[in-house]
Amino acid sequence: MTRPTQAKINLANLRHNYQFAKQTTGVACLAVVKADAYGHGAAAIGRALEQEVDGFAVGMLSEALELRQNGINKPVLLLQGAHERGEIGDIVANQLTMLIASDYQLAWALEAKIPEPIDVWIKYDTGMHRLGLSHSEVVRAINSLNNLPWVRSLTLMTHMACADEFNHPHTQGQLVLFQQLAQQFRLPVSIANSASLLSLPQTHGHIARPGLMLYGTSPLAYEHALASQLKAVMTLEASVIALHQVQSGESVGYGATWTAQRPSVIATLSVGYGDGYPRVTTCDSFVVIRGQRAPVAGRVSMDMMCVDVTDIKGVICGDVAECWGSQVPVAHVAQQAGTLAYETLAAMPARVPRVYTE
Ligand SMILES: Cc1ncc(COP(=O)(O)O)c(C=O)c1O
Repeated sequence: MTRPTQAKINLANLRHNYQFAKQTTGVACLAVVKADAYGHGAAAIGRALEQEVDGFAVGMLSEALELRQNGINKPVLLLQGAHERGEIGDIVANQLTMLIASDYQLAWALEAKIPEPIDVWIKYDTGMHRLGLSHSEVVRAINSLNNLPWVRSLTLMTHMACADEFNHPHTQGQLVLFQQLAQQFRLPVSIANSASLLSLPQTHGHIARPGLMLYGTSPLAYEHALASQLKAVMTLEASVIALHQVQSGESVGYGATWTAQRPSVIATLSVGYGDGYPRVTTCDSFVVIRGQRAPVAGRVSMDMMCVDVTDIKGVICGDVAECWGSQVPVAHVAQQAGTLAYETLAAMPARVPRVYTE
């Protein structure tokens, strides 16, 4: 018998979100599928999107090779470039898009005997100070790479540090720096992640790089009309596996942290932090059963959690609970745990079966 806990992945909603990114920007969009497509399963997400995307972006070589091994032939950008000199051969052999974000990566590329043309991106650090070349290093990189026979195309990119926050002063500073340098060269440019794509049209450039929004969640720290058009892709479902009547004053779960204030009905669900549901919850944490909210009652365990279904009529064992999805935003669940949907989705463990639906 299979444990009744699953992550349902709605591929029609995924495609909707990608098309929404394309329509919003009117430019090419690389679907960011790093970290196993933010926990959704990179191979399946890659196959589902391949016909419509302009390309993909991943965090490292192994993630790019997984796409290639699954028959995905669209361009794949390595968002950190090569991690060692030897990876350049794999990048060329698999026709991946090489990123130059450090001076040693430029040196490796210039020293390598690259037998066939590949696309190259140069990352300009405009103020995030995480990864990228300085202004003078970018100029040197462009001058060294321009016109080399193996460089099929050069693209200039940067990454925004605070685009998720409304009108953050840092954003303008980064954009001014980027525009100043971009004007010196006639190269295609890429700036926008999901937050920039949704809220800063001036960042759309020639190629956008949406990640989180493809999975139906807005990274913006505030409400935005465009963000409301995204559709949730993952629904984490569990079942009611036990029901208990508890009296006023009785407690539930490890540490006896939740106490019934009235005679209550407690449903135990087949899901816990070992399935990616955060252990940290608040009094605003809830799941949805029979279309109604059931507040989380007590501590989440590794394989189980309890919810208060006193106000929901007719709950029986076998009922399905939505832990997150279209009725319970994953961002809300993450926020209660003091984190972001990025972390909650990317942390989805392999033991939860992904079930793909159209
Ligand atoms: C360089 C780069 N571009 C694009 C993305 C996608 O970002 P998001 O998921 O916020 O759209 C990321 C993700 O961290 C990134 O590092």
